[in-house]
Amino acid sequence: MKDTNKKIRLVDLMICLSDAMDFIDPSVVDHHKRVAYIAHSMAAEMGLPLAQQKEIVLAGALHDIGAFSLAERRNTLAFEVLNPHRHAENGYALLKLFSPLSLVASMVRYHHVPWDDGSGREHKGQEVPLSSHMLHLSDRIAVLINRKKEILSQANRICRTIQANAGRLFSPELVDVFRTLSEKEYFWLDLASPSIQTILSQRLRTARIGVTSKDMLGFSQLFSRIIDFKSPFTATHSSGVAASAEFLAGKLGFARQECTAMRIAGYMHDLGKLAVPVEILDKPSQLNRREFNVVRHHTFYTYRILEPIAALQTINAWAAFHHERLDGSGYPFHLKEKDLPLGSQVMAVADVFTALTEDRPYRLGMKRPETLRVLDDMRKRSALNGQIVAVLGEHFDELDAIRMAAQADARTKYQTAAL
Ligand SMILES: [Fe+2]
Ligand SMILES: [Fe+2]
Ligand SMILES: [Fe+2]
Repeated sequence: MKDTNKKIRLVDLMICLSDAMDFIDPSVVDHHKRVAYIAHSMAAEMGLPLAQQKEIVLAGALHDIGAFSLAERRNTLAFEVLNPHRHAENGYALLKLFSPLSLVASMVRYHHVPWDDGSGREHKGQEVPLSSHMLHLSDRIAVLINRKKEILSQANRICRTIQANAGRLFSPELVDVFRTLSEKEYFWLDLASPSIQTILSQRLRTARIGVTSKDMLGFSQLFSRIIDFKSPFTATHSSGVAASAEFLAGKLGFARQECTAMRIAGYMHDLGKLAVPVEILDKPSQLNRREFNVVRHHTFYTYRILEPIAALQTINAWAAFHHERLDGSGYPFHLKEKDLPLGSQVMAVADVFTALTEDRPYRLGMKRPETLRVLDDMRKRSALNGQIVAVLGEHFDELDAIRMAAQADARTKYQTAAL
């Protein structure tokens, strides 16, 4: 576990989360990063304090986090979004569950409030931070970009549209800031660049926003809520997997710090599901071949999304290989036993165990004898590690109680978030 001591930057974590959301469709790839880039450029141009610049980048990277379905994501691409406050409220409800992001949560909440000649300083009796208006403007600039055309040739058209809505949709003061930025070609070229992640990360390299391992646990839990809350079918799955994997790791003699890392990996194992539209995750009938294939993308994305963060290498392997099988029959890497770390093998067992025992809207979870039978079959086929399955069998009741408690707790959070 040597890599947990390396520094993890909050902004890198949030960017990888935003990437997961933007893989959902080619029309939104890099959208969150673009908005973060524009918002940061405005904040820097205005000379806002560094701490505020940091918050606004985070808000940009997360602003559409409450738009769960593909239909909703596509809707946010229209210049004037229909019923925009729903996804903004959802995003607020999710982000405020994690206190270090409470400021970011309120910026996200109002990111579609129009300026309305200054009445937009308030919304439903609540004060709207100016940063929400910056986010709003940045977001609308980003959606005006036509991905198929050369970028510099679009600058004038975009400026005209924004200018025409100064006062009505956008604060005129902020529109002026944008006009200054828009005169510089590099601003547009950065925005359209495939390396925007590196550019953004370079810009923020002086920002001291390291993440402690305690924060990391909180963040991974936030990730799990964002993944799970997408769909009532899976509303508490990651919490169940996290608790089960941590418990099994403890029984197998993992050190305490490693057990915590296992829990973090459990929270993030299905991160790539953010790239799977809810239309598929929630489909009441059987998935067709194409839809099934889309679901199978998820572990690949978990792996590739976490890959750039060196400090998360071990956690990534434990998280992302949960559909790999010892005999090489899993996916997407077809790793075999010798290449699968023990932590990944624990995660695979925890994932199958949770999937079998948890209740789903369309069926109740399996009881002990049936669950053990399925796990034993998988062990016999050399899909799962026999030692781990045996430890699970020995402690079944204790483990199942821990899993249920973790999922009950997550369900309460799900209901209070009232998405
Ligand atoms: Fe939005
Ligand atoms: Fe957006
Ligand atoms: Fe999975």
